[in-house]
Amino acid sequence: MALDIQVRTGHPLEIDADLLVIGSPLTAVKAGQLPPACKAVDDALGGALAKLMAKEEFTGKRDQSVSIGSLGRVKSDKVVIMGLGDRRSISAAGIRTFASKAARSATAEKARSLVLALPPGTEGELRAVAEGLELGAYQFTKYLTGDRKPKTRLATVTVVCAGKLKPTSKAALALGQKVGQSINLSRDLSNEPGNVIYPESFAAAAEKIAKDNGLKIQVFDFREIRRRGMKLIDAVGRGSARDPRFVHISWTPKGARRTLVFVGKGITFDSGGLSIKPAAGMGEMKHDMSGAANVVAMMAAVAALKPKVAVHAIAPCAENMPDGDAYRPGDIFGSLEGKTVEIVNTDAEGRLVLADALAYARALSPDLLVDNATLTGACVVALGNTCSGWYANDESAAREFAAALKQSGETMWRMPLLEDLRDQIKSDVADVKQAGDRYGGSITAALFLREFVGDARWIHCDIAGPSALDRPNGWAQTKGATGHAILTFLAMIERA
Ligand code: BES
Ligand code: MN
Ligand code: ZN
Repeated sequence: MALDIQVRTGHPLEIDADLLVIGSPLTAVKAGQLPPACKAVDDALGGALAKLMAKEEFTGKRDQSVSIGSLGRVKSDKVVIMGLGDRRSISAAGIRTFASKAARSATAEKARSLVLALPPGTEGELRAVAEGLELGAYQFTKYLTGDRKPKTRLATVTVVCAGKLKPTSKAALALGQKVGQSINLSRDLSNEPGNVIYPESFAAAAEKIAKDNGLKIQVFDFREIRRRGMKLIDAVGRGSARDPRFVHISWTPKGARRTLVFVGKGITFDSGGLSIKPAAGMGEMKHDMSGAANVVAMMAAVAALKPKVAVHAIAPCAENMPDGDAYRPGDIFGSLEGKTVEIVNTDAEGRLVLADALAYARALSPDLLVDNATLTGACVVALGNTCSGWYANDESAAREFAAALKQSGETMWRMPLLEDLRDQIKSDVADVKQAGDRYGGSITAALFLREFVGDARWIHCDIAGPSALDRPNGWAQTKGATGHAILTFLAMIERA
């Protein structure tokens, strides 16, 4: 259920709510002065708040917070003051994280209602506020029953601004909610277990998203995948009792200036296939369709944003399983692009389904082709589990992506397409070998994908790392929950 978010000007203490969260920039408390909203709480509590803030050395730094029970002296049961850092460097992303943390505190406090007091000068960031509130309120509890089922959930939020509201503030809140909800949709798809989300049910979920948002969708079944010559998707999917699907959603406004195509890896469960993974942690591989979930769910936000550019979301979906008919190490397959591929490890399946999807995407003549995939453990080894890696085959495309990243505030680090490592994917028996050795594993995966994008301007995001995903930004609620990269992709679309 969507949050009920209202916005008003005035004093936060006038509103009845279970929890009051006040954002405080650094400068507001520097001179021993409390921000106005805090001052009123402090007065009501007979100076207890100021005392606590001094004791905890709260100065309004980012990530600092103080909380105090109100003992019934103000309308909210509890008041939390959150630091926002230097007033001049508060970005939309910073406001989003603040709102998200506030919603998470509300959930932790079992609050149904929240008052969020924004500091002066941030009235223009209501879209980011709504995005953050939806992201922070996210929980994946649908399989909990009885006592395990949460009894309360955050339902209403009143955002209180110090300054004057713009006439566009309601629209900004609505758009932010829609964006936040599309990311939560991606998280839901990712968190669903493999027995519930498999290629066919993923495609059905994509069909629902397209229908709900008035978008065009095509779904290819296994026969159509084979008929079209997507031999690598066939290879990966053939070992499963659940047939592969290929999903293509599009937003194509009249007079579109540019065409952006987003591709996401849709392995609904990755057992490794015959090169089977160790038991420990295999369950995490239900999230191996996070890239596909991102691009498909993102389209709901695209429908709300109505950009003047064409946007396509492409998701090659398959389940990677060992079986009598499964593909094997040593096998050689053709591909939609035409190149032949020597298989060396059936656990390197993501790059195979992506190779056919990238070749399909190229036929749409994209100005920019972007893929995202939970592709390699090596990327997690390189960057840790809070940061994704990204690659570009074109410097102007890289600049566009870097600017979008800056705008979204997401953490991704550019990795190099090192030509020296290209030898690792040379094959004696086919045009290209599917995987290299252990060293530089994220890079050789990217080099393999590059074989299938031709001269398209291309960005590849290896999002395997963030099993913590957006947790450093205080957004995710469950392990492996995704949504990472959507904000960056939307920023790219809006800037295009
Ligand atoms: N889905 C995995 C990558 C992965 C690992 C994502 C851990 C998230 C967390 C991918 O399909 C895979 O198994 N990659 C192999 C490639 C190797 C066989 C060349 C890997 O990273 O070990
Ligand atoms: Mn794998
Ligand atoms: Zn995988």
